[in-house]
Amino acid sequence: MLRLLTAGESHGKTLLAVIDGFPAGLKVDTAFIDRELQRRQGGYGRGGRQKLETDTVDVLTGVWQGVTLGGPVTLGVVNRDYKLERLKEVERPRPGHGDLTGAIKYLGSIRGILERASARETAVRVAAGALARQLLAEFGIQVFGYVTQLEQIPATAREGTLEELRALRDASPMYTLDPEADAKMVARVDQATADGDTLGGIVEVQVYNLPFGLGSHAQWDLKLDGRIAQAVMSIQAIKGVEIGMGFEAARRPGTRVHDEIAYDPELAHLPSLGYVRKTNNAGGLEAGMTNGQPLVVRAAKKPISTLRKPLASINLGTKEPETAAYERSDVCALAAASVIVENVVAFTVAEAFLEKFGSDSLTEIKDRHAGFLKLARER
Ligand SMILES: Cc1cc2nc3c(=O)[nH]c(=O)nc-3n(C[C@H](O)[C@H](O)[C@H](O)COP(=O)(O)O)c2cc1C
Repeated sequence: MLRLLTAGESHGKTLLAVIDGFPAGLKVDTAFIDRELQRRQGGYGRGGRQKLETDTVDVLTGVWQGVTLGGPVTLGVVNRDYKLERLKEVERPRPGHGDLTGAIKYLGSIRGILERASARETAVRVAAGALARQLLAEFGIQVFGYVTQLEQIPATAREGTLEELRALRDASPMYTLDPEADAKMVARVDQATADGDTLGGIVEVQVYNLPFGLGSHAQWDLKLDGRIAQAVMSIQAIKGVEIGMGFEAARRPGTRVHDEIAYDPELAHLPSLGYVRKTNNAGGLEAGMTNGQPLVVRAAKKPISTLRKPLASINLGTKEPETAAYERSDVCALAAASVIVENVVAFTVAEAFLEKFGSDSLTEIKDRHAGFLKLARER
């Protein structure tokens, strides 16, 4: 069973991810993990902190001579602006953050809550996902995320090979596939910055070349749609998750929702095994199991709650009205959210992949994967 725990505070010494159940025999490319960490720090609209730090991964356990051992893998990302001990208590809780609720729940300080609630924690979730992606890549599985909407501004997705789309996204300041939308989005972020306001939006992640049958129809907590929703919803500031057509399916009759099934023996060599769908409104999941089509997940991110033009709050000591606290913050972290959702989805898919094909060694997993594909083609 693949499991992940993270530890660390936003301004603490370090962030850690402990990954248990990761198979032996994978050659780890730390430069790939670093690239994902740096993409997480990028995107138009980030605050000063992201410019201060260049995150890199430190592989602390579970790897020998660059290859995983089968024991727990620990990944660290050091906070270069460590200053937790010097930071003061916050007195004015921010609406939309965990400040008030956490201080009441733990009968303690707001600082003690915000330091852990912060999305800085996602640095190591991205690192763990970037490791999981290297495992998935051994089986041709590719994960790709991008921004589809900023506030009211939609970005149109393009057709193209994955390499072309990646190049387009990586050239975009907002991680979209639509240079025209980028110009409008950048202007909107500038406006929000001038207004002391913040912005959210929607990101989409697709996973290609998944085999049939990851997840399960048999038990509620094993259904992959539910597990993806939980993992993505747990990302800071994500307030909605859709699979495939999502909410739009509720507005249509069944004839315009479900993906009709055909078979083309010429395509039997592909992960879809030759089962062809003209549409993919189910987003690659039926009854909690992957169905050979690309997985499509969308997530809605709310605007950041630390506002330079603060909302009304109180002083938690005096209970008198005051405006909410402000400390250096992002205006828009939507591009970063696309990287986080991409890697969180990858980790969840890798969990389900290892459940189906075993998790001791890469060699055994490859054998079982090939054996399953052979049997499935004969079905
Ligand atoms: C990439 C990313 C960066 C974020 N940066 C900030 C930030 O600078 N300031 C802030 O107040 N919230 C930021 N957030 C959101 C908060 O962490 C989040 O709203 C808060 O922890 C409350 O959790 P909830 O929104 O999930 O309920 C960020 C979220 C993400 C995904």
